[in-house]
Amino acid sequence: MQTLPGFRDFYPEDQALRRALFNRWAAVARAHSFVEVDAPHLEPLDLYRKKSGEEILGQVFSFEDRGGREVGLRPELTPSVARMVAARNRELKKPIRWFSIGSFFRFERPQKGRTREFAQFNCDLFGLSGEAADGEAIALLIELLRGAGLGSSDFAVRISDRGVWNTFLTEQGLSEDRLPELLQVIDKLGRDKEVVTAAKLKEIGLELAAVQAFIGTPGADDPVFAALRSNLKARGLDEFVVFDRSVVRGLAYYTGAVFEAFDRAGELRAIAGGGRYDGLLDKMSDGAVNLPAVGFAIGDVVIMEMLQRNAKASESLAADARRLLAPQVYMVIAAENRRSEALGLLSSLRRAGVTVDYAFEPAKVGKQFQTASDRGAEFAIVVGEEWPELSLKNLESREEEKTSAGNLLEVLAKRLKTH
Ligand code: HAM
Repeated sequence: MQTLPGFRDFYPEDQALRRALFNRWAAVARAHSFVEVDAPHLEPLDLYRKKSGEEILGQVFSFEDRGGREVGLRPELTPSVARMVAARNRELKKPIRWFSIGSFFRFERPQKGRTREFAQFNCDLFGLSGEAADGEAIALLIELLRGAGLGSSDFAVRISDRGVWNTFLTEQGLSEDRLPELLQVIDKLGRDKEVVTAAKLKEIGLELAAVQAFIGTPGADDPVFAALRSNLKARGLDEFVVFDRSVVRGLAYYTGAVFEAFDRAGELRAIAGGGRYDGLLDKMSDGAVNLPAVGFAIGDVVIMEMLQRNAKASESLAADARRLLAPQVYMVIAAENRRSEALGLLSSLRRAGVTVDYAFEPAKVGKQFQTASDRGAEFAIVVGEEWPELSLKNLESREEEKTSAGNLLEVLAKRLKTH
């Protein structure tokens, strides 16, 4: 039995790497005062019908449940968090800053950087508009990628604003309600053939040359971006951002600033994407709640490919992963008649939060030490005839010291690197 196409099994090493990355990201998000939430993996299909837009809707794994409801596996989190905020808007202290880590499902063609089940790290900020909030979201995205060990030579965040395309339409003598159509064309610029783009633009009433000229204007000079640019500059993050009008994003709900993180080499799909979506809560609550919002999501697939291309970053993450897989302490039972005392001691260590492994069955002391090293334990504790006296051996430095069962926790607390 194989997994379905685009679905992955995660063996311990792979899962530890992902967990190590998510642990770092959760720490960065918390440092930015974001708290964790989650929402159902299965939602009413209607949630995505109106909120996500055609492209995503066509990718939802949807079916009728046994109760005859039309449901879908979540392709993204944004409509769910918007519903959560709208439902408890009064009680929730503003600004609301939430992050979430979980699985998402899209029926896309499995290819490099794209799977059918993938993880996203979502961050959303509700209740604030303008560059203060946009700057905070983009800064957090950059810090999350830096937290993964990537630098400004590895990635850049391309920023745009859907509003500039509104202005463009007006300048071209067209009505603003052509915007969704135009954004769809711009979003596919790199993927569609030029003749196809030109034909689609013609239908809207636009010339390809005019659009290309607009995109070619250096975005950084745009007054729309000035405040955001200086906000990010104040944080020392200007080397990570590029203002680029061609970034418009495929999702229907974005209303202002939009941004995507890309590898500098330009070889991979987007690492992350997000933007401002001020109208979504209003729509979700039929006009009852109107809160501005900005957020983004980073996927696990492309970021893992990025990390493979950066030896320093991947080694550092692999070191975190090894720590998740290895016991801190291996208890060597040198005298079988002390096995009960050893079990009592290792249970109290485990209760205190120390990760402990040991040989379930009698084994030669040399073999137990070998297993301790193979498993990457930091210390071996030898329980022998001298009980309650023990010896504690640092498996890296080979230094050994004597201690007693009663003092062990206290000594370990000082010695363990990874406590
Ligand atoms: P998105 O651009 O559709 O945005 O997805 C964000 C990221 O999820 C992408 O940049 C990519 O890394 C990853 N991703 C998306 N689809 C796949 C796939 N099939 N396989 C692997 N990775 C994938 C959103 O989902 C928005 N809801 C983000 C957001 C949050 N906007 C506001 N708040």
